[in-house]
Amino acid sequence: MLTVLHHPLITHKLTQMRKESTGTKDFRQNLDEIAGLMAFEITRDLPLNPIEIKTPVAICQTQELAKEIVLVPILRAGLGMVNGIRDLIPTAKVGHIGLYRDEETLEPHEYFAKFPSTMPESVVMVLDPMLATGGSASAAITLLKKRGASIIKLVCLVGAPEGVKRIEEDHPDVDVYLAALDEKLNEKGYIVPGLGDAGDRIFGTK
Ligand code: PRP
Ligand code: URA
Repeated sequence: MLTVLHHPLITHKLTQMRKESTGTKDFRQNLDEIAGLMAFEITRDLPLNPIEIKTPVAICQTQELAKEIVLVPILRAGLGMVNGIRDLIPTAKVGHIGLYRDEETLEPHEYFAKFPSTMPESVVMVLDPMLATGGSASAAITLLKKRGASIIKLVCLVGAPEGVKRIEEDHPDVDVYLAALDEKLNEKGYIVPGLGDAGDRIFGTK
């Protein structure tokens, strides 16, 4: 299921990221902040377990998170979303998937994968600012499922209709969260209007 998170702060910060004139420092800071705001919404349905605790005043029946959370950024650009979410969920573990998109074929190629051993019983959030053709996110989710992950949420900033369709077809069990659903892909596979190459803008490589 697709959820587009509408919130004035998210919209404002995303607008700053979209501007061509925004430099690396502000781009990264806004990405961090949006990731945190998105995480607040996305974690609304996390399961809780009942627990009895002792406060300084009394015994009380309360609840705590039932499952661990594993963040899996797709390298490189997904790395830019990790800190903002970890500020909110400091106990989250982090796995990594290295994928790059061939500029000609637009096909994803895997070059790195490392995950925490607790991944199969955790809530896994796959992070990537850009959902373009959906090839990278779909390949990442396929790999995570092979490694035992079963509760998977895909968290992206900007999506194209083509990418959303691809995930819905390949992985109908995965919830997709976006800060914005854009118009289309251009002939080079870039999201329009989008924000350009997220990895290059985060790391200043262009
Ligand atoms: C970008 C982006 C996604 C992918 C999206 O990464 O961060 O991972 O492209 O495109 P898709 O939906 O068509 O697969 P890129 O391959 O440019 O690597 P980078 O993050 O290292 O720059
Ligand atoms: N990857 C990006 O970084 N930007 C796009 O618009 C598409 C893929």
